[in-house]
Amino acid sequence: MRALSYRPAIQVTIMALTTFAAGCDRGPAHSIVPVPQQIVMGSGTFALNSDVEVHFADQTDEGARSVFDIWATPFRDSGTLTLGAAEGGAFRIGVDGEGAPESYRLAVTTDGIDLTAADHAGLLYGLQTLSQLMPPGAETGGTAALELPVTEIEDAPRFAYRGMHLDVARHFFPPDFIKHYIDLLARYKINRFHWHLTEDQGWRIEIDRYPRLTEIAAFREQTQIGHGLDEFNGDGIRYGGFYTKDEIRDIVAYAEARHVTIIPEIEMPGHAQAALAAYPELACTEGPFEVAMTWGVFEDIYCPYEETFEFLENVLAEVIELFPGEYIHIGGDEAPKTRWEESEYVRDLMVREGFNDVEQVQGYFIRRIERFLNANGKRLIGWDEILEGGLPPNATVMSWRGTIGGIEASRRGHDVVMTPYSHLYFDYYQSEDQDAEPFAIGGFLPLDTVYSYEPVPPQLRDRDKERIIGAQANVWTEYMKTGDHVEYMLMPRMLALSEVVWSPAEAKDYENFLERIEWHLARLDALGVNYRPLDD
Ligand code: ACM
Repeated sequence: MRALSYRPAIQVTIMALTTFAAGCDRGPAHSIVPVPQQIVMGSGTFALNSDVEVHFADQTDEGARSVFDIWATPFRDSGTLTLGAAEGGAFRIGVDGEGAPESYRLAVTTDGIDLTAADHAGLLYGLQTLSQLMPPGAETGGTAALELPVTEIEDAPRFAYRGMHLDVARHFFPPDFIKHYIDLLARYKINRFHWHLTEDQGWRIEIDRYPRLTEIAAFREQTQIGHGLDEFNGDGIRYGGFYTKDEIRDIVAYAEARHVTIIPEIEMPGHAQAALAAYPELACTEGPFEVAMTWGVFEDIYCPYEETFEFLENVLAEVIELFPGEYIHIGGDEAPKTRWEESEYVRDLMVREGFNDVEQVQGYFIRRIERFLNANGKRLIGWDEILEGGLPPNATVMSWRGTIGGIEASRRGHDVVMTPYSHLYFDYYQSEDQDAEPFAIGGFLPLDTVYSYEPVPPQLRDRDKERIIGAQANVWTEYMKTGDHVEYMLMPRMLALSEVVWSPAEAKDYENFLERIEWHLARLDALGVNYRPLDD
């Protein structure tokens, strides 16, 4: 839970001006989101229809064909386009290894389409952009003619890390929804999916060595209704679920094919009450513990016993096997030290290690886990509390309690992902009129605040600025039970995020963005994706 006090309604609007090469009296010159690095709109059109064939510069490039097929499948399935491959086709596709990672060049001329990308991710992004030159809903059918405007685009991402998070522990979302979510990310050039898999209220990943994690820790007896600040009011309904390893492998492959890297999160030392319900011997006190039925921050956390490290390393070894990305997220946030302060074991450990502050035990904990991850070829990423008690030497920091943690970590030479609650917590309300919105945790985070976010703090020295590898928005699901509701909190704020992390800062223009997203809302309608309508 984010403490309710962290709720300033910061509202900054950047009024950077974007000039488009082709002026237009009514409406935007184009509707591409995120806005590309460079775009020139010409005159004339190219008719993309089922007579147009696809020419691959390298016939043997399976990666290019795979990306193309993923993009083309909805057009083919809906009968809109055939998109068959043929030597000499007017839709020319190539990957040439030139330019920045994930970059692409797209030219629509009256003779055809040329798409050249630095790599396969860039190819996917070029195709996503091409979709946005079509009428909304083209891929789902019913479109008479796809007259693409003559256009020249050069595009590359501003940040390497462009993230969206989803909490599947407070509420569980089935594999099909996770794939759908990943699909939405890829459409908007978001390339990291932070999958928050464990919490006090539920453990959601199968671990062969510890079956009680899925027998016991994956289910809670009931769930609190409302904010529950005064007294517990439960719904009386047993709730839970988890992903099998086969489901996870399938999702990982699905994401990889769409150039989305998954960052799994296994929380420690706090937010671990569900695991302790299954394995109470890992706590400093005897228990028993129950899988939490209320939201909040809980005092029963992992005790830093040797047996706990053995357990966590065994769990992480199985997690590492499932997820090919470089990062494992280990949480690290909101871990009260009450139990550690009262523990004779922890007191002895502090004497042995020469610690005089219990926060140093948190540092010790995270550093040990980092050593294990590094020895197994992975990098550790954690919430900004991992700065407390001595930062692990190679860790990447996710700055959520504002930007101070990120600033400090970058100055100390660590990579940083910015995800401050003030601008990027998508569980916050989208209106000041809370009664008009679905019940939420609190806060107020309208679209323009998200759009205004600048991930690189201006006070940083140039070499520290390089450490800000990107930004991410988070979807905590205490009050979201359905995929439909998640979509409502996601959209259109994720469209704003996409521009924050992809587009050049100087190309951002909120008024123009608002005009462009009309196209996207129509597209979401066609795709059957829920969203919050724009304010009048
Ligand atoms: C967090 O919101 N506790 C990272």
